[in-house]
Amino acid sequence: MKRFTIFSLMMFLVAALMLPVSASAEKTLKIGLGDPIDSDQGVLALRFKEILEKTSGGKYKVDIFPAGQLGDEQKMVKDSRRGSLDGAVVAVNNITPFSKSVGILTLPYLMQSFDDAVKATTGELGDKWRAALIKEAGVHVLGWAYSNFRVLTNSKKPVKNLADLKGLTIRVPKNAIMIGTWQALGAEPIPMAWPETFTALQQKVVDGQDNPHITNYTMKFYEVQDYTSEVHYLFSLQPLVVGEKFFNSLSAEDQAMFTRAGIEAQQYNLLFSVTQSETAKQNMIEKGVEYMEIEDEDQWSKLAMEKVWPDFYESVGGKAEVDNVLKALGR
Ligand code: MLT
Repeated sequence: MKRFTIFSLMMFLVAALMLPVSASAEKTLKIGLGDPIDSDQGVLALRFKEILEKTSGGKYKVDIFPAGQLGDEQKMVKDSRRGSLDGAVVAVNNITPFSKSVGILTLPYLMQSFDDAVKATTGELGDKWRAALIKEAGVHVLGWAYSNFRVLTNSKKPVKNLADLKGLTIRVPKNAIMIGTWQALGAEPIPMAWPETFTALQQKVVDGQDNPHITNYTMKFYEVQDYTSEVHYLFSLQPLVVGEKFFNSLSAEDQAMFTRAGIEAQQYNLLFSVTQSETAKQNMIEKGVEYMEIEDEDQWSKLAMEKVWPDFYESVGGKAEVDNVLKALGR
């Protein structure tokens, strides 16, 4: 028994000596999320953490603070810009108040499929938003979460057509284009920060809200909502950003490591979202939330595009800019 213990100890020491020398973490990054850790924001951040910690051989460690622990998403963007936070995953609609041109991505019915969302975040367009966010918001995009379309949930009544929206109060992010969209569709949007949303739905301060199935499920909205309506007005993209000042302070080699970890996390997130979105939808149904399609969505898109887009051309950089994006999307 004693011999066995000494032998085990020796084997342990030999194994420890054979491990690659890993520098103790030089920097521990603090990354905030608006959503819970099991959300698609969490999937993006966790994969980024895994890849960066591995490829840097322990030079960087990533600590993730989910569910708005570090404040609401707009605050986390500001904190990342000024450097009091290293980075965050936030919904694109919560970054547009700091970067008007990226507001194009929240124009209703601009993106109409996963394919559009991928085109909008890679290649020429991906570079365009990265440059705009550096210049306008002071943050550097490393990767995107593809969160699928924001569907409408509410506790008041089934919503299947435009007429059903009348009198419905809907919590919306503090995003002028989304507020304008719900107004144009005939609902009553009420801007509110994300961390206040669950309580507002619970206390019936508002009837409903819109977010993708995965977000709705991981936020446990089934506890406070009775109906889900499958709308497609806005494909939710959620960038992982770090402060540009911080990114610039890294060596070229480390920047490449961060960039690679972001790209791998983005690809992984896409796969997750495509497969898990339907599961989250079914989970909501199993929890008792009635699910329905929209009967007249061609009218929703016509109304939204005709009434909302012209009001925001100027603020997002002009109609020509929007036309360029449409062209890049192949439309
Ligand atoms: C919002 O509605 O403010 C965001 O989409 C919430 C989120 O981060 O999922």
